[in-house]
Amino acid sequence: MNPGTINRRDLMTASLSAAGLSALSLPQAAFAQAGDLPLTPSCDNRAGLTKRQTEGPYFTPSSPRKRDLRGDGPGETMALSGFVLNRRCQPLAGALVDLWHADAAGAYDNVGFGFRGHQFSDAQGRYQFITRVPGLYPGRTRHFHVKVRAGAGPVLTTQLYFPGDAGNARDGIFDSALLMKIEPAEGGRLGRFDFVVAT
Ligand SMILES: [Fe+2]
Repeated sequence: MNPGTINRRDLMTASLSAAGLSALSLPQAAFAQAGDLPLTPSCDNRAGLTKRQTEGPYFTPSSPRKRDLRGDGPGETMALSGFVLNRRCQPLAGALVDLWHADAAGAYDNVGFGFRGHQFSDAQGRYQFITRVPGLYPGRTRHFHVKVRAGAGPVLTTQLYFPGDAGNARDGIFDSALLMKIEPAEGGRLGRFDFVVAT
């Protein structure tokens, strides 16, 4: 086995809480739970690439490098965490993860950079955002937009969805392969999604 390979158990038990969330003023115990959420997708040393989806009309390039988007507006707090992996389920450090989404009222900030930010996965391939649960807007179910790029690889543009959201079944873009794992936590929600990208 390649020494850089980590198996599914390693990923599931990896502590996501060690990547800086303790500074974000949600209870540490809540973030420890994120490491207990199941890996998405399941990964046994081989994994299919995360599905691509449309960018939509509201992407703005050159977002700020920012992990904590809570200051961009009111709403329910949500932490979004996971790994960026290659097709052999090896974590990728330094991968770009760019997140943008609607505010709690379902509106995008198309003038500034509200609820838009990017960061790079850490040495263990982990990324984390803390933001607000996006609101609904006409024609779509609840979702996040993301772009992920590892090194000089292609940009993965996709969207992430909320399990059990009433709008999922009515949304023609929705794909169950892009459902986050979500758990309630003290002070908000914990979401997890692991990206598998080409390099
Ligand atoms: Fe959208």
